[in-house]
Amino acid sequence: KKVVLAYSGGLDTSVIVKWLQETYACEVVTFTADIGQGEEVEPARAKAQALGVKEIYIEDLREEFVRDYVYPMFRANTIYEGEYLLGTSIARPLIAKRLIEIANETGADAISHGATGKGNDQVRFELGAYALKPGVKVIAPWREWDLTSREKLMNYCEEHQIPVDFSKSKKKSPYSMDANLLHISYEGGILEDPWAEAEEEMWRWSVSPEEAPDTPTYLELTFEKGDVVAIDGERLKPHEVLAKLNQLGGDNGVGRLDIVENRYVGMKSRGCYETPGGTILLRAHRAIESITLDREAAHLKDELMPKYAKTIYNGYWWSPERRMLQAAIDETQTFVNGVVRVKLYKGSATVVGRKSEQSLFDESIATFEDDAGAYDQKDAEGFIKLNALRLRIAAGKGRSAS
Ligand code: ARG
Ligand code: SIN
Repeated sequence: KKVVLAYSGGLDTSVIVKWLQETYACEVVTFTADIGQGEEVEPARAKAQALGVKEIYIEDLREEFVRDYVYPMFRANTIYEGEYLLGTSIARPLIAKRLIEIANETGADAISHGATGKGNDQVRFELGAYALKPGVKVIAPWREWDLTSREKLMNYCEEHQIPVDFSKSKKKSPYSMDANLLHISYEGGILEDPWAEAEEEMWRWSVSPEEAPDTPTYLELTFEKGDVVAIDGERLKPHEVLAKLNQLGGDNGVGRLDIVENRYVGMKSRGCYETPGGTILLRAHRAIESITLDREAAHLKDELMPKYAKTIYNGYWWSPERRMLQAAIDETQTFVNGVVRVKLYKGSATVVGRKSEQSLFDESIATFEDDAGAYDQKDAEGFIKLNALRLRIAAGKGRSAS
């Protein structure tokens, strides 16, 4: 009996290690990944060792995360319920995939995670796991144990001599947080009252727009097939692009969000998010598409997007429908090449210029000046009349609106 645990090195997942060993008398394999959460992952090794773990996986997945998950998602201009950029949602399929790969490598028959029974994350981890290893056993301690309060958790630590110094030394945040290269999220605490404004000290990645510099920051983003490959002419890997945009966006107060969203399990939940780089990426990607995509292709993408967003939010990354949608989205990006100029200023990211060698924008046709016969305005008369035909017939039969 062996179980692979998604292990952060924090107090909760350390308790889970002990609890799994005790409750299931099984060998625990820990897996800790750097996906850009901004915390060292190496300390997880000593902590796992102290808990008697023999097989310890610690991996830097930042590049894979942004290249294979975040970038493909941004090709669709993906947002859930009109606002949420899916920062947590998009990281879960990668964690699920690695859990299963490690289970296969180590001969484990089960996986485990520290998500509660109330949230989306449990669904995302487990749907992913089942899709990739149908017979896998899933252990979700939060749905099983009775350690339902901070106090019970601390008592468990004391009884089992789990060192809690690493949580005591740092002041425990009043929020449930999750961070990776795309975003940092805050839930719980005073946020459980949807009317209560988050205090300024909560935000960790961005200055408040009021405190942001009085002079704007301009940047140029180069796109190839829908992906940003360079900032101000400097070629960067996807995860380097996102890290840099997070820095620039955060410095200018870009990317704060405060919403109530619908969780897949059925409840509404209030969350605050900082997604500085993602906010810039989304704006810029729409701008490059605005000159390189055909109208109907662009509109169809926009119709598919909410479905694609929901697919990811609800945890179905590893599903046939997500792959189908991805293939359609990727197909549209062939000509999405060029440069977008963005201005960051006191919380806003505004597109101020766009250019492309594959641009469909035709100045000679669009001009308000003399177009030298490029567009015959007389053609519009018949175009409008035929489009009005059914309206005129209906009106003729007394069906005019009013
Ligand atoms: N509500 C967001 C989502 O479902 C963020 C979840 C944050 N997760 C966490 N473990 N704190 O994607
Ligand atoms: C959790 O319940 O573990 C976090 C919130 C969520 O998954 O939606």
